[in-house]
Amino acid sequence: MLSARKAGNIGSIFVSSFKGELPAHYQELKKEIAPKDPSVIQNAWKRLESSFKEEIPKIKELGSQVIPQVNFHEKFDFPSDMKAEIKKRGCVIIRNVVPPEVAQGYKQQVLDYIAAHPGVPGFPDNDPQVWELYWSKAQVEARSHPHFLQTATALNRLWHADENDEVDLETNLAYCDRVRIRKPKDHSFKLREHLDGGSTERWEDENYRKCFSNILEGKWEDHDPYDVTHRLDAKMQLHDAPGGCEMFRTYQGWLALSSAKSGCGSLQLCPLIKETTAAILMRPLMPDLLDSSSMAGAFPGTQIDIDPELLPQVVDTTVCIPDMNPGDAVFWHCDMVHAVDSVCSQPTDASVFYIPASPLCSINTAYVAKQRETFRLGLTPPDFPGNNAEKDFQDRATPDDLTPLARVGMGFQRLEPKHKLTKGAQAAVDNFNKVLGL
Ligand SMILES: [Fe+2]
Repeated sequence: MLSARKAGNIGSIFVSSFKGELPAHYQELKKEIAPKDPSVIQNAWKRLESSFKEEIPKIKELGSQVIPQVNFHEKFDFPSDMKAEIKKRGCVIIRNVVPPEVAQGYKQQVLDYIAAHPGVPGFPDNDPQVWELYWSKAQVEARSHPHFLQTATALNRLWHADENDEVDLETNLAYCDRVRIRKPKDHSFKLREHLDGGSTERWEDENYRKCFSNILEGKWEDHDPYDVTHRLDAKMQLHDAPGGCEMFRTYQGWLALSSAKSGCGSLQLCPLIKETTAAILMRPLMPDLLDSSSMAGAFPGTQIDIDPELLPQVVDTTVCIPDMNPGDAVFWHCDMVHAVDSVCSQPTDASVFYIPASPLCSINTAYVAKQRETFRLGLTPPDFPGNNAEKDFQDRATPDDLTPLARVGMGFQRLEPKHKLTKGAQAAVDNFNKVLGL
């Protein structure tokens, strides 16, 4: 099914169908997965608190500058002396991924597209800041801009896979998301600290849980946020969350189409990936919550909102990202807590294309197969509210507009990689060609 989701806008991600207490089976689940000796998690938590105590002052002192920044260059990869810091922080700013005039041109093209089609839906309904648009020529072009793909591949390369893991980290597939044009003074598109990529699934799904097994065994120091293995079979969507993402994104990200001043309507991140993930995963297993069904702020069918009462140390790591210029991009790890400034207080709009990094693997191939059909028909991509607003737009992008690189990412072109493939990567490539009939 292509557009099974109800019509709507990005506001749907803020709503959980669950209110109040979670069903009792969450309590049973916790008993099942928690170490039998309660002191294991308590001691791990003490060590975690010490680490936060050591790291939070450093984050506060550096503020926005704690987030690593790199300039894009030809044959882009991250400098080897920065990789450890980027991995520790779980996020990075890349300057000049596309030239500023190209990014500004993208925004103008989208503004013209919106002006040509009065009534395009978005959030909020009465004055959209996040538009239900996916197929403007500018969006389609940006997702496969050669610089963007080099950037995504460099990000994917920070992860690692075993020889037999069916993933090719050197090939990135397209995930087609919305555009945000946040106007000055807007206070509708604010988001408190939260986590995407499913919610209670992180504990409930056996494979997703395996991504965090060291944490759940009280050995959070050994947690490796960049191990692909169990991500490839993880079910991040057991509860059909209205704003959920079916694709495996190594990082969420956006490309700036305008200036976005720090703290003036932009993004906030919690740049301490291992510790924040450990706190979120262990918190429901702590003695005060273990005998209840509480998942410490995680509810099925929505994003995880970070409860400042239960996880104050996570909230305390929040920093605003630095000033962004048109053409800069920011990426944050799929387990990273993030938020959006409450007000757009800069005098100009803060505009972005949401584009993640999403390597070739079977989950992503399956999604691209569905997404390809929505693209052909001009329908809303499968993960998003089924508005199908662009169906009859004559000026939307079509398969004829795709460059050779875009044809690969969108599933129109047979994959014949020139780089060396592991056994698992070869299987991922073969699966892609088979599923997409190429
Ligand atoms: Fe989010």
